[in-house]
Amino acid sequence: MAASDEVRATTPAEDAAMLRALELAARGPVRGPNPRVGCVLLTRDGRTIGEGWHRGAGTAHAEVAALGDARAAGHDVRGATAVVTLEPCDHTGRTGPCTHALLAAGVARVVHAVDDPDPAAGGGARRLRAAGVDVVGGVRRAEGEALLETWLHAVRSGRPWVTLKTATSLDGRVAAADGTSRWITSTEARADAHRTRAVVDAVVVGTGTVLADDPALTVRHGADAARPTEGRADQGGADQGGAEDDAGQGAVAPAPLRVVVGHRAVPDGARLHGPGGELVHLRTHDVDAVLAELAARGVRHVLVEGGPTLASAFLRAGVVDELHAYVAPVLLGAGPIAVGDLGVTTLADAPRWSVRTTRQVGPDVLVVARPARPAPSTRPTREVPPSLSPGAVTPPGDPVPPEPASEA
Ligand SMILES: NC(=O)c1ccc[n+]([C@@H]2O[C@H](COP(=O)([O-])OP(=O)(O)OC[C@H]3O[C@@H](n4cnc5c(N)ncnc54)[C@H](OP(=O)(O)O)[C@@H]3O)[C@@H](O)[C@H]2O)c1
Repeated sequence: MAASDEVRATTPAEDAAMLRALELAARGPVRGPNPRVGCVLLTRDGRTIGEGWHRGAGTAHAEVAALGDARAAGHDVRGATAVVTLEPCDHTGRTGPCTHALLAAGVARVVHAVDDPDPAAGGGARRLRAAGVDVVGGVRRAEGEALLETWLHAVRSGRPWVTLKTATSLDGRVAAADGTSRWITSTEARADAHRTRAVVDAVVVGTGTVLADDPALTVRHGADAARPTEGRADQGGADQGGAEDDAGQGAVAPAPLRVVVGHRAVPDGARLHGPGGELVHLRTHDVDAVLAELAARGVRHVLVEGGPTLASAFLRAGVVDELHAYVAPVLLGAGPIAVGDLGVTTLADAPRWSVRTTRQVGPDVLVVARPARPAPSTRPTREVPPSLSPGAVTPPGDPVPPEPASEA
């Protein structure tokens, strides 16, 4: 049986430890190139002697953290069972391979939830087995995959997970006939949207939105990037960018990359040049090239915040994995709509979406939906064309001073 299919007998203590390891994993940073991983070390008779989780790229992996925790408490780790949410890596990155650490520690058994799909890091189970360790995979796999959904998608497909946010009137418009667009959705909806920014690696808009709305694309409204997303079934809402990017209030978290797509320049005085995440300007209309460039930068989760031209391009490319549609109870009757031509000429060809959640946010409604059919999006992204010249013009992670609430 392939390692990826196996679930052999585990003890009740191991199952409970896996649930605990999943809790520990969720303490790790939601953002960043590395997966969230938790680990619990058990004695042969099922007592917990160590716990650990990965705190982000460059820090100890969960297994190493758990071994350190056990040793610090004076426990003998030889013969222990490591219960870990992701297959131990067999790869030297900024830290050494977990397989080496587990073997050096004399761990006798490894129980893991999810096989590591990363060709560079995978193969840990095989290595451990070859060294005589008893390895069981696939334990609580569904829970493990749910926790790592966007990371797994990015590693398996070679391109980031894409969330598209729209904020519209009941009749699907993003601005009135005269172009006024602040604000269609409520303060609550915009605050909700900032919580999504806090869990993504990059926020993307087109040059049209930059020129029309001068968005800052920072994480505000008290959203906290370091905070895991427990209790947020949809991993957040979306809003902002363009018409809905307001000056918020509250604590400011380190911001995700701010990405502008399109040939026109970002004006010198634009708020995007101010404090916030690194600004990356990609002078292209090629959606695959944008995603390839972001993947190369370690981006696992992208939030596309519009406007309509860019939203349509991502939809036409079939790369939108989740749609966050905020709908405000207002009718405009005229003005631009959220999405342009998708190449659909007859109803039978219209791509259908499957609603995952609906939620009232203040006076507005958030609909979270995914393509009803798998999007043709799992193909690897192409090489970045040499003509693409990303330009980083602000350093990442600068603090953003609280801005006055501009909600009228
Ligand atoms: N309610 C909302 O959710 C929301 C969100 C954002 C914006 N908006 C509103 O949307 C309006 C701006 O709309 P917009 O459509 O101009 O904004 P946009 O989609 O942000 O920008 C469009 C521009 O991006 C460039 N571009 C990048 N990729 C492209 C591609 N694949 N195909 C074609 N062009 C591409 C083009 O400019 P270049 O010539 O520079 O290449 C294009 O004109 C504003 O009124 C804003 O308030 C609303």
